[in-house]
Amino acid sequence: MSRIVYVNGEYLPEEEAKVSIFDRGFLFADAVYEVTSVLGGKLIDFDGHAARLQRSLGELDMANPIEIEDLRQVHRELVTRNDIDEGMIYLQISRGADNDRDFVFPDAETVPSSIVLFTQSKPLTQAPAAKTGLKVISIEDIRWGRRDIKTVQLLYPSMGKMMAKKAGADDAWMVEDGEVTEGTSNNAYIVKDGRIITRHLGREILHGITRAAVLRFAREAQMQVEERAFTIEEAQQADEAFITSASAFVMPVVEIDGKTLGDGAPGPVAQRLREIYIEESRNTAS
Ligand code: PDD
Repeated sequence: MSRIVYVNGEYLPEEEAKVSIFDRGFLFADAVYEVTSVLGGKLIDFDGHAARLQRSLGELDMANPIEIEDLRQVHRELVTRNDIDEGMIYLQISRGADNDRDFVFPDAETVPSSIVLFTQSKPLTQAPAAKTGLKVISIEDIRWGRRDIKTVQLLYPSMGKMMAKKAGADDAWMVEDGEVTEGTSNNAYIVKDGRIITRHLGREILHGITRAAVLRFAREAQMQVEERAFTIEEAQQADEAFITSASAFVMPVVEIDGKTLGDGAPGPVAQRLREIYIEESRNTAS
């Protein structure tokens, strides 16, 4: 059955949804996005994603084509129309389609931003990797300098996943000036002597909505949290490691550049945080 998607104010079967070949998202990666997860047919942390979207748009001087409350309704409508129990909603806003290719931004008054949303049905709570853990490799972080803005410039992260796949791993952690920034599409953490260590916020990483929730839950559960950079060598000596994202929730990492962590099974802190995150999200999704 084909999905119903949302394109510039219309709900359409996916085969009928079209964007212009002049769309700046397509030509220049001049677009921002959000991925919001769905649990039990409800949205996890919509307000957090909406706030980050507003910030991304603001940083790029891009007009928002939709009021946040209307956007919430579009999300809910897509969940209903596609009967999504668990999965994600992808949202992309681009600087619209001028009638030619021009590096100069078009006037937002005459060229409105374009907006696309679609659903992805996926088992999130029962993801098989939660039981086995992920293997990651390290790669150099050669992305641009504003990774705090959630743009669709995802070629390098996509290449990173392919490098991991080729190496027999699941994902890559990116390293800049000797320190881990983040995963290709997730934030990275290690655990040593009960302390949870994850890179501090800045322009070098995306400010994960899941990261914010997980660190809040960890602190509420009296766990020690250190927001600072760490190296791959430190990560390889850690007791455990994990990643977070809207689509992975909390996912254990059991191997880094071929070095097995602990006994090679998902660690207790990652497992506990995953349980807490799923439980809290079920309670607060709306
Ligand atoms: N990725 N860092 C990067 C580079 C990301 O692309 C993501 C999310 C995160 C985690 O952010 P959040 O917790 O808000 O999902 C961190 C999404 C899921 C994606 O591209 O599919």
